[in-house]
Amino acid sequence: MTQAQVSSPVLRWISKVEQERVAAGLRRGLRPRLAGFDGLLDLASNDYLGLARDARVIRAGNEAAEHWGAGSTGSRLVSGSTALHESFEIDLAQFVSAERGLVFSSGYLANLGAITSLADKDTLVVSDALNHASLIDAIRLSGADVMVTPHCDPAAVEGALAERTRSKAMVVTDAVFSVDGDLAPLAELHSICRRAGAVLVVDEAHSVGVLGNEGRGACEQAGIAGESDVVVTVTLSKSLGAQGGAVIASDAVVSHLVDSARSFIFDTGLAPASVGSAQQALAILRREPQLAGQARGRAQDLRAIALAAGWKATDPAGAVVSLLVGEPAAAVAAAKLCESEGVRVGCFRPPSVPDQWSRLRLTARATLGLTDLDRAQQALIKAAEQLS
Ligand SMILES: Cc1ncc(COP(=O)(O)O)c(C=O)c1O
Repeated sequence: MTQAQVSSPVLRWISKVEQERVAAGLRRGLRPRLAGFDGLLDLASNDYLGLARDARVIRAGNEAAEHWGAGSTGSRLVSGSTALHESFEIDLAQFVSAERGLVFSSGYLANLGAITSLADKDTLVVSDALNHASLIDAIRLSGADVMVTPHCDPAAVEGALAERTRSKAMVVTDAVFSVDGDLAPLAELHSICRRAGAVLVVDEAHSVGVLGNEGRGACEQAGIAGESDVVVTVTLSKSLGAQGGAVIASDAVVSHLVDSARSFIFDTGLAPASVGSAQQALAILRREPQLAGQARGRAQDLRAIALAAGWKATDPAGAVVSLLVGEPAAAVAAAKLCESEGVRVGCFRPPSVPDQWSRLRLTARATLGLTDLDRAQQALIKAAEQLS
């Protein structure tokens, strides 16, 4: 039976914005990938250490599901906390030299929980212009007074804090920025925060497992790990190859989150399989700390290849290399050409990046070999020729 077409302002509006997106080349689509190797070299995922398909990590997830069940069965405060969650939180906190970790069901929700619990309308939040969307959403939801400062500009942050009219203040930044792959000046930001009595919230989604001694992260590298006025958020879905997120901070901050973070309290706990896999990935990283340096090294190799092929490439602090294109349609065409040459790359267009900043994003993996780099080189040379 055919359903009658219902018309309403919302449905008409959806149809109108869809047509606008199509005209602007901004339509997005889901393309399920195949289970095994699909013939494409993957330079698009966030599996920086190659652990998402590591047999030991998969087995640990399976064992956790067998032992604890497929789902966590409830919110962490009711029935969704297991000994596995707790032991992983201890491992994670130890790894980044902080007092306590708290696992959330995604990195997005960890950011939402941390920021909405620590900032309110009596707080000034100073936010880098290129912060990740989850940080921006969290700041909006907190109801705090917001000052967006130019990208990686400590003097602007200091100025914003000096002029604040709110009693409390917080500075929020990605460590490694997700699109450009550059690094926030964390040591400087922390000194500024300390002088101004502000808390520094650092999203280490792209830096834990890649930066710092043995992959312990950008805060460790900056010498600010474990400081009581630093709050770190991470995702378990990039270097750790699993799923989920965490806030890692002082005992006082984490206790406060348990009592007040709505994305922790009103959300089902992370599935045991994800916790088991992430814990195993962290154990592997501790045994094989060279993985972090390898991921960074392969990113530098990709950058050198891109520069030689004529691309404008950013200098990666970690595993993310960005190739500036400009027009969204040109970025899509370049990504398609790479794919036809056997290489999957990321393609970023508005609203993920500002207008005219469309780009390709290459993400390195510790396990990339010489043949992979050769293949990347061929694809990037051809795509650059097409653009010129
Ligand atoms: C900087 C940053 N923060 C947070 C997230 C969200 O993490 P998750 O995917 O675990 O929700 C991402 C990406 O996914 C990210 O790139």
